[in-house]
Amino acid sequence: MILATSSYLDLLGKIEKREARAGVIGLGYVGLPLAMTLARSGFAVIGFDIDPGKIIALDAQRSYIEAVSNEALTSEVAAGRFRSTSDFTGLGACDVIIICVPTPLTKHRDPDLSYVEATSRAIAATLRTGQLVVLESTTYPGTTDDVVRPILEEGGLKSGSDFFLGFSPEREDPGNRDFDTATIPKIVAGDGEEARKLMMAFYGAAVKSVVPVSSNATAEAVKLTENIFRAVNIALVNELKTLYAAMGIDIWEVIEAAKTKPFGYMPFYPGPGLGGHCIPIDPFYLTWKSREYELPTRFIELAGEINSAMPRYVVGSLAEALDMRLGKALSRSRVLVIGLAYKKNVPDIRESPSLRLIEIIEERGGHADFHDPFVAEVPSTREHMALKGRRSVELTEETVKSYDALLVATDHDRVDYAALARWSPLIIDTRNIFARLGLSGGHIVKS
Ligand SMILES: NC(=O)c1ccc[n+]([C@@H]2O[C@H](COP(=O)([O-])OP(=O)(O)OC[C@H]3O[C@@H](n4cnc5c(N)ncnc54)[C@H](O)[C@@H]3O)[C@@H](O)[C@H]2O)c1
Repeated sequence: MILATSSYLDLLGKIEKREARAGVIGLGYVGLPLAMTLARSGFAVIGFDIDPGKIIALDAQRSYIEAVSNEALTSEVAAGRFRSTSDFTGLGACDVIIICVPTPLTKHRDPDLSYVEATSRAIAATLRTGQLVVLESTTYPGTTDDVVRPILEEGGLKSGSDFFLGFSPEREDPGNRDFDTATIPKIVAGDGEEARKLMMAFYGAAVKSVVPVSSNATAEAVKLTENIFRAVNIALVNELKTLYAAMGIDIWEVIEAAKTKPFGYMPFYPGPGLGGHCIPIDPFYLTWKSREYELPTRFIELAGEINSAMPRYVVGSLAEALDMRLGKALSRSRVLVIGLAYKKNVPDIRESPSLRLIEIIEERGGHADFHDPFVAEVPSTREHMALKGRRSVELTEETVKSYDALLVATDHDRVDYAALARWSPLIIDTRNIFARLGLSGGHIVKS
């Protein structure tokens, strides 16, 4: 039998007594809700972020994440269980450090691990015996052990004996009121048996159930598999949508009927294209890694191709409907895009297809504005700088009537669709929201 190391036993004891101090690096959509969940379960948590705006907001007990209320934030601060800072020297005092920084793609669609590497270097600067370091950012299998570990070991401490290293993917679903960080089962893994047991003890203290797997690479693969599954299935219904439309069959009616099958079918819904920080990006982390093994990921590439062709397909339907129903060319039309966020009831516009829809309408000579109850103004984005500063248009009868068509890209609940159906001469609906609300008419066209 191998004797447990004293650093392992010390940390396990601190976790069990809730005396372990946790540091969460990156206080965005993933990091802030996680920090709150850990604080609520009794750990003292310090949040670290390089964005001074976020630290100022948190100091004022103002949450910028829908899933975290100001009251929840205030109560953890008042209890002395949460504070935030951009001073990273405090990392050395944390017993468990969790990395929740972005993992985007570069311009050439390769993994951009620069945030993970910079964070690993910041941790390495104060790394000490007995710390558990966890990566939560989504990435390709091998990142934790092959990229993070060597940076942490540069100072001479060894993973598995001096410090511990784990991976636990975040499965947050923004806007989903049925599940949150604490109630979604948490996949955990570690570099070695002690790291894995520490991961189970730490997350087990904060979430309802933990699902241990045998290695960090396996846990990394679990997350990618979940997101690839979504990307591929969404591509499949998007492809079927275009074919069924040409055949005069309504894909939404097909899905409603198909999902009555009690086994072997799971509904996925078509839309104007993929959005968000996860589904359009994560699958390509695996595509990049697969080149090393000379094994192409054809499903992923094909799904990407179909999904990224959707905004152009939808604008094609818009142009056809303008022509056939109003006798107007898109190039002489004013279009209001409803919903800039990539999914309903959230303010997140990262990779949102609505941005592409506006660009394509304007490339074709039309005029496009947007309305979004959650997005007042288009912020800086890497790929759509020309749209920066455009503001959401109010939905009054007068403004709606000043547009030739509405293009519903996101089905936010806070929109009065019945009023839109009355006021607008032409509506292109990519979410089937009008039919779902029992609103119909010859001027509402599904796409
Ligand atoms: N948003 C989701 O729903 C979701 C779901 C599952 C997984 N993920 C993954 O989680 C990770 C984080 O995503 P997110 O949506 O929370 O991103 P985000 O952009 O909302 O938040 C990331 C935060 O990290 C901060 N940051 C960047 N570099 C830093 C550094 N060097 N040190 C400290 N802070 C730094 C940023 O200022 C930002 O506040 C990504 O890998 C993402 O793929 C996200």
